[in-house]
Amino acid sequence: MRTVNSSVPRWQTAAARLAILIVIIQALGPRAGWSQEPVQPGIKEEFLEQEKIYRSRRADGGRVYTTDRGLSRYAELLPSGFCEALSRLGSSDRWLDIGAGQGQAILDYYVPEDAAAPAEKCRGSAPKARAVAISIEDRRRDNWKQQAARLGNDRIRYLSGKRLGQYSPEELGKFQLITDVYGGFTYTEDLSRFVDKVLKLLEDGGSFYTLATGVHLEDGTDKLGTLYLTELEDAFGREVKVCSWLKKISCVQVTCESKSDLKRPTQLIKIRKVCSDTSVQRTKLVEFEAGYPPARCFQLDP
Ligand SMILES: C[S@@+](CC[C@H](N)C(=O)[O-])C[C@H]1O[C@@H](n2cnc3c(N)ncnc32)[C@H](O)[C@@H]1O
Repeated sequence: MRTVNSSVPRWQTAAARLAILIVIIQALGPRAGWSQEPVQPGIKEEFLEQEKIYRSRRADGGRVYTTDRGLSRYAELLPSGFCEALSRLGSSDRWLDIGAGQGQAILDYYVPEDAAAPAEKCRGSAPKARAVAISIEDRRRDNWKQQAARLGNDRIRYLSGKRLGQYSPEELGKFQLITDVYGGFTYTEDLSRFVDKVLKLLEDGGSFYTLATGVHLEDGTDKLGTLYLTELEDAFGREVKVCSWLKKISCVQVTCESKSDLKRPTQLIKIRKVCSDTSVQRTKLVEFEAGYPPARCFQLDP
């Protein structure tokens, strides 16, 4: 039990405690000042390496990263409720697929595939929504060009040459549904800016469906010895789960499903925007290693 020396004035003990507290806080961190640039040496070379991955083609030496997942694969990978949300869209609604690769998921949505395919229930019976595919590099194939010409009237659009964050709100407009399957959410160097942009592009009531692979799972079921791909830490270097960070955003409802049975622990994430005043706690990139996907570590703004 602590004892108090009654001969020492109360303000002096309080001042001493405050001084000790300041010393402890300074000793613990933060690991690096938010305003400094604590990035690893050689990070620019990693960015250049990543650019090469975006530009790589099968012909350049084999398959490097997957760009042709169709709607069935999206239905398997994205959180539950994605198919129903897509099937509910009407002809005046809009769907944005960020990091669309070849845009195969959008093509499958428009062009009936096998009626028994798992994605069939995503298509619904109503006239189809307008769809926009975004990719850094142009991965369109002839089937996209032919289908876009057949549908006409800009029903499906493919935008490339820029990252999501480089488009103005006017260029893209607003969307009821946004998806990202191993796209910008997995590859971006500025995670908070990316999420902020996605939320600004969503209509109120609209939803963003994505997944994060190689992350600390919300329910803690990731196994010991996991090699993580995306890590978040607070200013003292303590681990923060991606879902905990997302759940601090204002004006959204975040649902996370944990998948620990896959090759890497994967969090399936649905973010529903409930009002327009969204605000995302900022992240700063502190480590980056090029790859498909890249390995990234972000520090949260204290
Ligand atoms: C691995 S591919 C995935 C393609 C597709 N979603 C699939 O599952 O087949 C990654 C895609 O994300 C795109 N991408 C990465 N970062 C992006 C960003 N910040 N903005 C837009 N697209 C991005 C790449 O250009 C590419 O089209």
